[in-house]
Amino acid sequence: MADISVKLGALELPSPVMAASGTFGFGLEYRDVLDYNKLGAIVTKGVSLKPREGNPMPRIVETPCGMLNSIGLQNPGVESFVGDLLPQVKGLGVPIIVNVFGETVEEYVRVAEMIQSTGAVAGVELNVSCPNVKCGGIHFGANPEMLHEVTKAVREVTDLHLMVKLSPEAAVIEAVSNAAEQAGADSLSAINTIRGMSINIETRKPRIATTTGGLSGPALKPLAVRMVWEASRSVSIPVVGIGGISTAMDAIEFIIAGASAVQVGTANYTNPRACEEIADGIAVYLEERDIPKLSDIVGSVEVYEDYTLK
Ligand code: FUM
Repeated sequence: MADISVKLGALELPSPVMAASGTFGFGLEYRDVLDYNKLGAIVTKGVSLKPREGNPMPRIVETPCGMLNSIGLQNPGVESFVGDLLPQVKGLGVPIIVNVFGETVEEYVRVAEMIQSTGAVAGVELNVSCPNVKCGGIHFGANPEMLHEVTKAVREVTDLHLMVKLSPEAAVIEAVSNAAEQAGADSLSAINTIRGMSINIETRKPRIATTTGGLSGPALKPLAVRMVWEASRSVSIPVVGIGGISTAMDAIEFIIAGASAVQVGTANYTNPRACEEIADGIAVYLEERDIPKLSDIVGSVEVYEDYTLK
């Protein structure tokens, strides 16, 4: 069997396939349908200091080759997460990465401190890229200086694996990638959703109550592959690819572009066993080509010799 385990810095995962934040709840909902042994990690829905009710309905709509969401980071707050949910999620036996959200640097820090103190979590994913909130999220991730500040502040209070989830709306992906690395991130995850809009032409109303929502799914994939390629060339920490991965071949494409592992999001809605099938398919791809381990193909894209634009 090909070795599909991955190392992200000091974090060792049995599989390169993680369930992406926001598409997998807190990990409990898929227990009856999915083989959790095939997961590298579960990345939880964003957890904030105080409970959040989220945005008004409607907040999800299907679009060609994807969907828009504007959930508004609904979650029960870190105290409830740690006290009620985490003991159950821990029982799943899968590494847990907690997606951490704040409206201010102090809030990110306090949530990260509480997560660190549980001793039950493998890492935190810093949500500096949610496009559906008035404060926090993308407001940090679009700006390299603010991204550096929040990453550094969280780094100072946790020795858990620190993954920073990048936004495709950052003007220069290399600049935010470098800012996160210099502030002490252990890895990057790329990319979160990009803002989109869909209108009902009979009512002339947006199909999402907040007018815009984050676009995810296969429609996003070429943009995400390009950004993973760019980010991975500009940093020496690992990059985790996200954006429209529905099949093992999609995942392999990200890995050849430069991703050391992947997250699967929107595909979970149409195929609850997507993560398992993708992990199995990656192993088959390697075996059929006599490639002993996944890391042999990370970043192995063979760009044309003279690929710079004229
Ligand atoms: O609206 C939301 O809860 C989305 C979160 C995210 O994209 O990180």
